Amino acid sequence: MLRLTSQDDEAGETYRDSGLEAAVVTESLLIRRRPPRSSAMTLLHSQGLPALDITDEHLEHFFFTGSDGSPTGLVGIELHGADGLLRSLIVAESTRTRGIGSALVQHVEGYAAAHQVSALYLLTTTAEDFFERRGYRRVDRSLSPPRIKSTREFAQLCPANSAFMTKRLPR
Ligand SMILES: CC(C)(COP(=O)(O)OP(=O)(O)OC[C@H]1O[C@@H](n2cnc3c(N)ncnc32)[C@H](O)[C@@H]1OP(=O)(O)O)[C@@H](O)C(=O)NCCC(=O)NCCS
Repeated sequence: MLRLTSQDDEAGETYRDSGLEAAVVTESLLIRRRPPRSSAMTLLHSQGLPALDITDEHLEHFFFTGSDGSPTGLVGIELHGADGLLRSLIVAESTRTRGIGSALVQHVEGYAAAHQVSALYLLTTTAEDFFERRGYRRVDRSLSPPRIKSTREFAQLCPANSAFMTKRLPR
């Protein structure tokens, strides 16, 4: 059983603290907000994920597992009104298939819902199946809401052949 715990948000409220069924892993997984910039960049660069556009403002809505200096996992969300762009999901190779990626996705979905996001969008060239198994479906890029279309990740950084996926969040 992997137990997911969350750092309190700015208002001092925990937006999600739930159990997550996953075999084998027994340690508690602490997900913290605002990763150190240099550590986040190092992890993203290690897998060639887009990082050029990431500002300190973006990092306000990024989450990580592991230590400040050596995070094991990372995920971010850009909030655009009722739409959210899930981005920068990565788990260090040495800690994959232990449930960290799933926990980060679950966590950021809860964070988005708490911020009145009703639909999440993402672009991926490497993890379409992973997201499909977590309720995301591929849609044509032309169906993207304008606010998502105008993000740098969508407009400039992700290759044109990336899968564009979406998931509606429960209200
Ligand atoms: C995609 C990625 C984030 C997944 O991270 P992860 O930590 O390995 O993810 P999980 O461990 O939660 O899930 C991976 C698989 O391991 C399985 N798994 C999870 N916990 C497990 C455990 N304790 N024992 C055995 N298997 C387990 C999951 O069931 C899952 O399989 P499924 O997709 O068939 O359901 C990771 O592979 C990665 O960083 N890839 C490169 C970057 C990338 O592609 N990012 C996406 C761009 S948006």
